Amino acid sequence: MKIELLKLLNFRNYQQLEISFHPSLNVIYGKNGSGKTNLVEAIYVLGLTRSFRLSQEKTLILDGAISTKVEGVIRNRYKTTYTVLLNKEAKKVMINDNKVGKLSDYISKITIVLFHPDDLRFIKDTPSTRRKNLNISISEMNLDYLRVLNLYNKILKQRNAYLKQMIINHHETTSYLDILTSKLVDAGLYIYQKRKTFLEKVNSYLARLYFQITGLEGLEIVYRSSYEKKSKEEILQAMQSGLEKDLMLGKTSIGIHGDDLAFLLKGKDLKEYGSEGQKKNAIIAYKFSELEIFKEKTGYYPIFILDDLFSELDQEKVQNILRLLSSDVQTFITTTSLGILSSFENHLYKQIHIEDGHVIGESEENGK
Ligand SMILES: Nc1ncnc2c1ncn2[C@@H]1O[C@H](COP(=O)(O)OP(=O)(O)OP(=O)(O)O)[C@@H](O)[C@H]1O
Ligand SMILES: [Mg+2]
Repeated sequence: MKIELLKLLNFRNYQQLEISFHPSLNVIYGKNGSGKTNLVEAIYVLGLTRSFRLSQEKTLILDGAISTKVEGVIRNRYKTTYTVLLNKEAKKVMINDNKVGKLSDYISKITIVLFHPDDLRFIKDTPSTRRKNLNISISEMNLDYLRVLNLYNKILKQRNAYLKQMIINHHETTSYLDILTSKLVDAGLYIYQKRKTFLEKVNSYLARLYFQITGLEGLEIVYRSSYEKKSKEEILQAMQSGLEKDLMLGKTSIGIHGDDLAFLLKGKDLKEYGSEGQKKNAIIAYKFSELEIFKEKTGYYPIFILDDLFSELDQEKVQNILRLLSSDVQTFITTTSLGILSSFENHLYKQIHIEDGHVIGESEENGK
């Protein structure tokens, strides 16, 4: 999957932009605050209709403007024009100028794997952030996953509310609770299985990629779930034994809403032991794994965005990462330093020089 052309209107600090991209490598360079992340963010918004930044959606609109438009021509098997229109109240998406009613029908069309420095939260942050990142990874490949996850969360809320009611009313019979519990476990087991399979797939690539980047062996992700190796009956039994505790807390203690994962390097948790660079490289290896999993599933590579990839990495790791880039994958790299470009000698690529929301230079490099 490749993006050939991108048009922006009033997006962040771009009033108007029309730019074509190289089918394999695009290097976006410029000073801090020039608009590099904004540009790759626009590609992300084109695909997913939302940003990867935590900022409010309306900040995507150029200050002072009332709406923004992101349009892109994507080539997969066919050439397709995608459009995202956003004003302060509403969002509208179109494919080849036809309005698409359901966002989920639109989002499933364009696949993107993104690395952003905030992704280090996948290692550093809380279990809930790790679950969120994992959910994003899996639901990009499987929309049913998102549907079932939403269902799980809805039933979980109902169960928790009912537990609280039982406490207040000194309610003893559990027949309605049992129905909710059973439904919850059905949805939970589906999510558990998808998470497990996905992480197993990641693990089939991760160690090799991490070794290629860092020369270190033995990286793996371990998945921790209260459902681990349990049948439905065993989970129901465990929940039955935990009922008293649930009633005391007024919430459900066993379930996939408590899942977590860890990146272990030779058995040691990178969160506790890893250096900043080791963590960053682990996330990068995870992203490269995602590319391969997408390819396995869909037959083509997603668009690959690497924002601020190079900060904090030594020259050797940078070289190793660049060596992993395949010309089959359309890749976008942002950087403040052109010096890094000496590393691209074996690639065909396009340089895009950004200054203050404008492209002030574009050139195709032929490499060697
Ligand atoms: N809605 C908006 N309207 C106008 N300008 C905006 C808007 N949102 C962000 N900006 C501006 O965009 C700039 C930031 O752009 P961006 O994050 O793309 O920088 P960058 O080139 O990636 O910088 P760095 O190298 O520091 O990561 C800032 O100057 C910010 O004020
Ligand atoms: Mg940036």
